[in-house]
Amino acid sequence: MNSNFENHIRKYLDGQRDDLILQASRYALEGGKRFRPRIIFAILKGMDLPEETGFDAAMALEFIQTYSLIHDDLPAMDDDDLRRGKPSLHKAFREDIAILTGDQLLTDSFRIVSESKDYDSDVKVRIIRALSTYAGRDGMIYGQLLDVTSDSRDLDSDKLYLIQENKTSGLFKIACLIPMYIGRLEKEEYFTKLGSMIGHIFQDQDDLFDVIKSEEEMGKNLSDVRNEKLTALQFCDVETLQKRIDEEFDALFRFLENAPFDAKYLVELLMKLKER
Ligand code: IPE
Ligand code: IPE
Ligand code: MG
Ligand code: MG
Ligand code: MG
Repeated sequence: MNSNFENHIRKYLDGQRDDLILQASRYALEGGKRFRPRIIFAILKGMDLPEETGFDAAMALEFIQTYSLIHDDLPAMDDDDLRRGKPSLHKAFREDIAILTGDQLLTDSFRIVSESKDYDSDVKVRIIRALSTYAGRDGMIYGQLLDVTSDSRDLDSDKLYLIQENKTSGLFKIACLIPMYIGRLEKEEYFTKLGSMIGHIFQDQDDLFDVIKSEEEMGKNLSDVRNEKLTALQFCDVETLQKRIDEEFDALFRFLENAPFDAKYLVELLMKLKER
């Protein structure tokens, strides 16, 4: 955990009016692995830029990540009571407060970037565009739509690909594009593909962990089987999926050999992801 980044989030929250939504936001933000922010910082380091230049945009993205989990856990969605090692927000607070807190975190993310002192106007617009594109209709929301309207009987691997490409890769694309915008590299296709690849691996692992790990270890309910979800394990057994994940990591490391930045920090982070 990057304590400077955690302080950055704390300072932002300390500057807001203290009401129930702020208290709920603090509660929900606590305990995340901050994997998407860490991708931003690793790429920035590989571009010889200080991690701090990514703090505002990373906070905005982590707010969206947190909102997506708050809403994902709601009774109308996955109906999960455990998140980030604690009762889900709608259990610890109330369902109405959880909905509003998710809405507030999403809305805040655009405000944070637009008010940031760290980015020029054109960079702000590009970051906000990436956030609203890949967290929305062309990313997370579309993926969640496909997720809630499919089930384990839809044995359609194209559909599974589309779910992962949107609900999970969406936010990873943003994590890869943010440092590219900050560093003013014009390699949209490369960084979008990088985010897509990381997202598919991440969701394959998440689906695998749903059956091989404990709720205690993961700090969340493992509800896909109960909810009859369409996951990677509908297409193969645990061993085959583990093998596929290893192959996906190999392809990702090969892809990073042509990175337009020094990939050693990102590779280091991804090795930790591989070994988790
Ligand atoms: C959970 O993401 C949602 C998925 C895409 C599987 P994380 O595993 O990164 O959750 P936090 O942010 O650490 O709680
Ligand atoms: C959700 O996928 C990804 C989001 C867009 C929130 P999951 O439903 O598998 O995530 P977890 O397992 O609850 O974290
Ligand atoms: Mg879900
Ligand atoms: Mg879920
Ligand atoms: Mg899951």
